[in-house]
Amino acid sequence: MKKQSGFILVCLTLATLVQAQNIQLPAPQKTGGMPLMEALNARQTQRTFSAKPLSDQQLADLLWAAFGINRPDGRRTAPSARNMQEISIYVALPTGLYLYQAQSNMLEKILDQDIRAQTGKQPFVKIAPVCLIFVSDYDRMKNQAEFYSATDTGYISQNVYLFCASAGLHTVVLGSVDKEALQTVMKLKPTQHVILTQPVGLPPESAAGN
Ligand SMILES: Cc1cc2nc3c(=O)[nH]c(=O)nc-3n(C[C@H](O)[C@H](O)[C@H](O)COP(=O)(O)O)c2cc1C
Repeated sequence: MKKQSGFILVCLTLATLVQAQNIQLPAPQKTGGMPLMEALNARQTQRTFSAKPLSDQQLADLLWAAFGINRPDGRRTAPSARNMQEISIYVALPTGLYLYQAQSNMLEKILDQDIRAQTGKQPFVKIAPVCLIFVSDYDRMKNQAEFYSATDTGYISQNVYLFCASAGLHTVVLGSVDKEALQTVMKLKPTQHVILTQPVGLPPESAAGN
């Protein structure tokens, strides 16, 4: 009996430790922002970043805009071919790698490692405080997996671009990525494929106010 309660205590402690590493995001702000036509006019690629972290509110808003749930049936802010919902967003932060759980509005800790340096080949990937990694699970698709994964990711990426334009953040979508190496470091399943990555951050301090 004593042994059993000791075991339960260890399990509960471990579960609490794991939970403590997850990040519960605040509710996303779904109102306000720049009018759509102005955001389209401001959308552009920027390759300079401040290393300053984004706030949890900025992360929550960014991820909801990217691919959050916007209807009671669980569908998202971006379309999905045949509603296969094969794309997941992994989030590389200095504190580790996380998986965006849209339903619970949480960042689930996957790795303790800072893998931002592996998310692209250009030097700014080490500076931007956040890198979104769009991963497709080909297991969820019957055919044309490459084509649909690319198109579905494109919609999400454009949501990120428009959110960043509205929120005064810098971003660049990256195809130039050593995807095999990144998949290995992320410990993905063989059916999971990195499609694109997208660093996000504040403008560099010298450019603040531009
Ligand atoms: C699929 C895709 C992959 C891209 N890959 C890279 C990349 O690896 N590195 C980079 O600096 N820019 C990359 N870009 C950004 C483009 O260079 C950029 O969109 C283009 O120069 C037009 O600039 P704009 O986004 O400001 O309109 C990529 C864009 C797309 C759509």
